[in-house]
Amino acid sequence: MAEDKKLLHQHDFDGIEENDNELPRWWLGIFWVTIIFSILYVPYYHFMYPEKLPENALMATMAAEAEAAKVEAEAAPEKTGDIEAELKTAFAAGGWEEAGKQTFNTYCAACHGPDGGGLIGPNFTDDFYIHGGKLGDIVRVTTEGVPDKGMVPWKTTLKPNQIHEVSFYIRSLRGTTPATPKDPQGQKVDEDGNFVD
Ligand code: HEC
Repeated sequence: MAEDKKLLHQHDFDGIEENDNELPRWWLGIFWVTIIFSILYVPYYHFMYPEKLPENALMATMAAEAEAAKVEAEAAPEKTGDIEAELKTAFAAGGWEEAGKQTFNTYCAACHGPDGGGLIGPNFTDDFYIHGGKLGDIVRVTTEGVPDKGMVPWKTTLKPNQIHEVSFYIRSLRGTTPATPKDPQGQKVDEDGNFVD
């Protein structure tokens, strides 16, 4: 090409000639734009929004998470995982008496006696328990039952709050005097319901 000839350099190696063609304008345009962009972008990125830098963004996220965890911990200070303590608090708070009695009369009295003195099932008024006398034990046995001993699992019939209410009611029967008490079954328990030996 005639034009190429003009631009021909003297470089010639093994028949390969080096040309010095002018770069197309559109290519040069993009080239300059990228250079200008990079000059503007460095201060923009590093100095105008320092909070967007990865390290700062990470710090901010971690601080926010720590703050959220603190708020959550403060909002639920009672969540100690101590179920027995939570049940005791709910038992002491009351409000379960009427509902608990009703559930007992409907579902439990047939086997445990109308006043909890025991019939087919054990007496709830004495200090003896087969499976433990803690509130958690009563809730557990009521929920899961003792199927091979004739105690029904109530978790499919009663809602969790009903199970709590009736368990509290059973606990409140302890120390009362039924009309016809059944002989003690199981082991003696202390005030908290722990077995004493
Ligand atoms: C069909 C009869 C029957 C019914 C109805 C029944 N129980 Fe029982 N329950 C039993 C028997 C039998 C046992 C003894 C289980 C054993 O020997 O391990 C028992 C044991 C228990 C115990 C454990 C007592 C201990 O000494 O450890 C609890 C608590 C209990 N029942 C709660 C309930 C509640 C609450 C209801 C009503 C929602 C209920 N039961 C209804 C038959 C019954």
